[in-house]
Amino acid sequence: MSSKRDYPQEYQRSLADPEGFWAEQAAALPWYTAPREILSRNADGTARWFADGEMNTAHMALDHHVETGRGEQLALIYDSPVTGRQQRYSYRELRDAVARFAGVLRDQGVGKGDRVVIYMPMVPEAVIAMLAVARLGAVHSVVFGGFAAHELAVRIDDARPAVLVTASCGIEVERVIPYKPLVDKALQLSAHPPSRCIVLQRPECRAELSGERDLDWEQAVAAAAPADCVPVLATDPLYILYTSGTTGKPKGVVRDNGGHAVALHYSMAAVYDMAPGEVFWAASDVGWVVGHSYIVYGPLLAGCTTLLYEGKPVRTPDAGAFWRVAAEHRVKALFAAPTAFRAIRKEDPDGAHLQDHDLGALQTLFVAGERLDPPTYDWLREHSGKPVIDHWWQTETGWAICGNLMGIDPRPTKPGSSTLPVPGFDVRILDDSGHELPAGQQGAIALRLPLPPGCLSTIWGNHERFVAGYLSTYPGHYVSGDGGYRDEDGYVFIMGRTDDVINVAGHRLSTGEMEEILAAHTAVAECAVIGVEDELKGQLPIGLVILKDGVNIAPEALERELVALIREEIGAIACFQRALVVPRLPKTRSGKILRKLLRQVANGEDYSVPSTIDDPASVDEVAEQLRGLRDV
Ligand code: COA
Ligand code: AMP
Repeated sequence: MSSKRDYPQEYQRSLADPEGFWAEQAAALPWYTAPREILSRNADGTARWFADGEMNTAHMALDHHVETGRGEQLALIYDSPVTGRQQRYSYRELRDAVARFAGVLRDQGVGKGDRVVIYMPMVPEAVIAMLAVARLGAVHSVVFGGFAAHELAVRIDDARPAVLVTASCGIEVERVIPYKPLVDKALQLSAHPPSRCIVLQRPECRAELSGERDLDWEQAVAAAAPADCVPVLATDPLYILYTSGTTGKPKGVVRDNGGHAVALHYSMAAVYDMAPGEVFWAASDVGWVVGHSYIVYGPLLAGCTTLLYEGKPVRTPDAGAFWRVAAEHRVKALFAAPTAFRAIRKEDPDGAHLQDHDLGALQTLFVAGERLDPPTYDWLREHSGKPVIDHWWQTETGWAICGNLMGIDPRPTKPGSSTLPVPGFDVRILDDSGHELPAGQQGAIALRLPLPPGCLSTIWGNHERFVAGYLSTYPGHYVSGDGGYRDEDGYVFIMGRTDDVINVAGHRLSTGEMEEILAAHTAVAECAVIGVEDELKGQLPIGLVILKDGVNIAPEALERELVALIREEIGAIACFQRALVVPRLPKTRSGKILRKLLRQVANGEDYSVPSTIDDPASVDEVAEQLRGLRDV
């Protein structure tokens, strides 16, 4: 373990003296101009960190390491079982590749503050593109490669990028998915398409480039001169990452440069116990927040080697894939979603594959993204023999709110708990009127302001949505959207979302958005989409639809059409497979669909019918149909 400090002392200090605490953490990074203003306020009272500090995130993550003697150390290992390729980049090589691609973007007119949308599979060029954007002081918005054209178009229209960077294809196990047709369609759908599209051609599938707009990555790089880092203020945005909210319109979470770098640098040592030179593997995708924070920025800011894995936990080629990669690259800490381990456990219940690999270097397994169910926790701990650390965070915070500080003062874990609040996060459990609840009682989880560095600074182009959605429910607090409780020892237990966001295989999706899509079908009068528990993926969405009067369509045919519609609009990643036709939906007398009640009924939980219900018989009808579904 690295530096040993006492958790309570570290935590208390972070809350009692946030400026002193974070000034010290900031001093560990190479600023162009070190900040003197540590914590200050925007005009509307929201907090900002390190406002007068000048820096560049790509400089801190790459150039600084090259300048201080880490140039020949490995920065990035790419391991791709789906293509059979591996590639390694030293810090110097990665810095040079990033500077070169930054030159390409600069030649296309990208400068400070301009947006660049990146829609790419898990290839090193995705990381290179992100860092190149950061190098120019521009703002990247990475869109997960599993999203369909419509989702990409919505994000393009909100971010209004100058350039879009993509690849010719992604690879799902053995299936090659051409990206260019999706991109072309998204650009057609978009009201604000970028004027340039840079395409990385992969050997598995070559894309057809169209006229003036498209540039070939390789040719463009060959013709470009490297670009230098552009200094930015700590408060300037580094990226926008869209995440699902309760409505159909995704929220563009904005992350600044300075607070982000300080928080991630601190977390690498404190939460993950990582030191420079050690290998960190976040088995996620660069399209999600885990990928942003812990495939790209965190490990590189900390001088570690990061692993980029283009494969699955199973089927590439088997349930031993994670253990093979961890052993082969001497990974010290592996971070994945519980779903990944559930998939491994399902195929290899006795953990036989673990015996095939030397996991001597692997010290800790971290999980987040969804609830870690106790059976998976027990299985993983027992079969790997490693500590399993559950930690809780969100796209909005960008790093862990609760966890076990493995680099400072590891505490005993408790199944079902993400342990204790991380320094900087003042976690409160509140009742509906904003009063704190005692230990053991479940309520809304809120964070007392100010949020520590690294958390979202606003919603892109919609500051009102940021204030209304997060800061207004409980004045003086950020509302997380999760419910849960603390036990007598202060351990935090996350019990799930209190809104209409669901978590499918660690992917955050909006049931509200799915409802909007279903409601657009000509046969559908009204609908509700709810998340039901699933053994493998945690939750799966199902639709309950009421037909318009006079519509005559077989329920199976409608289901097929609705499933295809969600796949077309959101993508296969939504895992929307069931839509039931129901005669009525339980509603309040004021006409609000009782979604929580539906969730409880669907999951076979105890429920009580609220007195505000309009027609109590509607619950029994739906319950009957949902029972049928569970029995299938
Ligand atoms: N591009 C295109 N399609 C994609 C995609 C991508 N990047 N990622 C997933 N999909 C598709 C899949 O091919 C699948 O399509 P199908 O319905 O035609 O088969 C669908 O979306 C659902 O994908 P997924 O949820 O990944 O299911 P799966 O059955 O292929 O794999 C697991 C199951 C458990 C192995 C997988 O869900 C997994 O690895 N989960 C962990 C995810 C994770 O790391 N999340 C953490 C984010 S922090
Ligand atoms: P995302 O923004 O995609 O990272 O999703 C964040 C949501 O995932 C949180 O609001 C939680 O609902 C859920 N989540 C993340 N980590 C955990 C965890 N360790 N335990 C339970 N739920 C989690």
